[in-house]
Amino acid sequence: MIEFDNVSKVYQNKWTALSNVSFKVEKGEFLFITGPTGAGKTTILKLIYGEELPTTGKVIVNNKNVSLIKKKELPFYRRNIGIIFQDFKLLYDRTVYENLEFVLKAIGTKEDEIREKIIRTLTRLGMVHKKDCYPYQLSGGEQQKVAIARALVKDPEIILADEPTGNIDEEASKEIINIFKEINLMGATVIMATHHSELPQILKKRRLHIVSGKIVYD
Ligand SMILES: Nc1ncnc2c1ncn2[C@@H]1O[C@H](COP(=O)(O)OP(=O)(O)O)[C@@H](O)[C@H]1O
Ligand SMILES: [Mg+2]
Repeated sequence: MIEFDNVSKVYQNKWTALSNVSFKVEKGEFLFITGPTGAGKTTILKLIYGEELPTTGKVIVNNKNVSLIKKKELPFYRRNIGIIFQDFKLLYDRTVYENLEFVLKAIGTKEDEIREKIIRTLTRLGMVHKKDCYPYQLSGGEQQKVAIARALVKDPEIILADEPTGNIDEEASKEIINIFKEINLMGATVIMATHHSELPQILKKRRLHIVSGKIVYD
C-alpha cells in the first residue's frame, strides 16, 4: 500500500536527505524508522503525506503516485492519514475538544457525528476528563495524547508518528507505545520514526534503519 521506489530527496539542490531509498509497507503493518538525527526519518514521513515531493523516484500510496496529486486534492488525500508531529502542532488558543473538532469540521464531518467521535476518541486515550482544558494546562505526555487523538479522530488508515516519545518521560512513553500497538491491532498501518533504536526489538516489529539518507537495515 505504501511504496518507495528508488526515492531520493535533495533539498534546495544541495542538501541530500535521502538517496535511492526503496521499501514497501503493507496495509496493517507496523514499521519503525530508526536512525540518528538528520538521517532522513522526518523526510520519509513528509514524502508520504505529500508535504515534500521526491527529487527522483516515486512514492506510491494506495496505488497513487503522490507527486501527481494536485495541490487542491491534498487535503482530501490526507483524510486517510493521521499525522502526529514531533512538536505536536496543537492549536494553543483552543481547548482539547476544539482541537479535535477543528479537524473534523475541516474534513466535512456531519455535525451530529462530531461530538460522538471526539468523545469516543478521547475516552480511548483516557483524556475525556481533560476535554475542556487548553494545551498549556496539560503535561507533555497529555499533550502528546491530544496530538494522537487529533490524528485518530478521523479514523485514518495510515498513522504517521514522528518521534512520539521524544518529548516525554519513560512511563508516558510506554503508555504511548501501547496506544500505537492497539491502533495497529485494530487494523491501521503505523509508521513511527524514532531515534530510540531499542524499540523495534522490544515490540518485535519491523525496523527500517537509515543513516545519512540510506537504508542500512530492513
Ligand atoms: N527544508 C529543508 N531544507 C534543507 N535541508 C533539510 C530540510 N529538511 C531537512 N533537511 C536536511 O535533510 C536531512 C534529513 O533531515 P530529516 O529528515 O529531518 O532527518 P531526521 O528526521 O532523521 O532527523 C538533514 O541533513 C536535514 O538538515
Ligand atoms: Mg526528524
